Amino acid sequence: MNVAVPAAEVSADAREAMPLPHLYERVRRHVPAFEWPALAADIEAILRLKQERNAVILAHNYQAPEIFHTVSDIVGDSLALAREAVGADADVIVLAGVHFMAETAKLLNPDKTVLIPDTEAGCSLATSITAADIRLLKARYPGVPVVTYVNTTAEVKAESDICCTSGNARKVIESLGVDRVIMLPDEYLARNIAAELPHIQFITWKGHCEVHERFSAEDIRALRENHPGVVVLAHPECPPEVVAEADFAGSTAAMADYVTERQPPRVVLITECSMADNIAVDNPAVDFVRPCNLCPHMRRITLANIRRALERMEHPVELDPETAGRARLAVERMLAVH
Ligand code: 13P
Ligand code: SF4
Repeated sequence: MNVAVPAAEVSADAREAMPLPHLYERVRRHVPAFEWPALAADIEAILRLKQERNAVILAHNYQAPEIFHTVSDIVGDSLALAREAVGADADVIVLAGVHFMAETAKLLNPDKTVLIPDTEAGCSLATSITAADIRLLKARYPGVPVVTYVNTTAEVKAESDICCTSGNARKVIESLGVDRVIMLPDEYLARNIAAELPHIQFITWKGHCEVHERFSAEDIRALRENHPGVVVLAHPECPPEVVAEADFAGSTAAMADYVTERQPPRVVLITECSMADNIAVDNPAVDFVRPCNLCPHMRRITLANIRRALERMEHPVELDPETAGRARLAVERMLAVH
């Protein structure tokens, strides 16, 4: 049996003797020392390949710490990744995240090569709805604007009036100036935003995030009982009764900002659990309580397949130009909302 020596127990001298010691310092609480040499070899190769290919790596906040803190050029929530993808100063964009994020980057950069290291990195929300479903909804509710979460395929975005992320959903809906919207596919995000905008009627869809739907209000009450004083931050993809029990709800970037700016002594992030690992690195004074729900799709991205993607230029995102044109409009309308 392999027993990992907790990285924190490796002496400073031993750490200094390891490959890429400055990067190991960033991730040592999450990566056992015996795993580092193999990971460091991939990191060295990726850093070299990025230069050779003139590539940038965009990484979502849920990526593993050894990706997030070492090879990524831009990290953030879905909104930041979409914004940063616009006119990225590179020939190649590698999306360390899930497929819909790579599609969004491609929509915004039709002339660049956008690579997703594993094409199976999907999303339960993106598979919950099709373009045909939206056409049926539009026929049933003529004239009602369709606001589509970015966690969808390009075909679905192409049928939509405007996109949104968890970071700007409220602003996007308010910008429409209507009293009725179709908001999909995330039922919980729609219900959470609807609670903030009671004058607007929301028509919703039954899509759920397989990570956030697992949290319950009972979980939050148990966390508070077992960890007195803990500040609870929840992602708005959680069920409304979970959000109601939280101290704050916001996108992954909003949760990271909350921790960085307010430095709560003890916090729990009701979201994918790599997020806490990533933020903890730069917030050593904060005690993170860590219930762990991992996203299996995000976990498909590894240093090994990022390296392979850059070596072999696999897997480029290809979109039908006509569909991409319509989907781009919905994303661009979202980016124009401030
Ligand atoms: P944000 O990073 O935009 O909050 O999205 C969370 C998420 O679940 C992405 O898949
Ligand atoms: Fe999709 Fe949820 Fe995974 Fe995000 S965390 S990619 S919303 S399944």
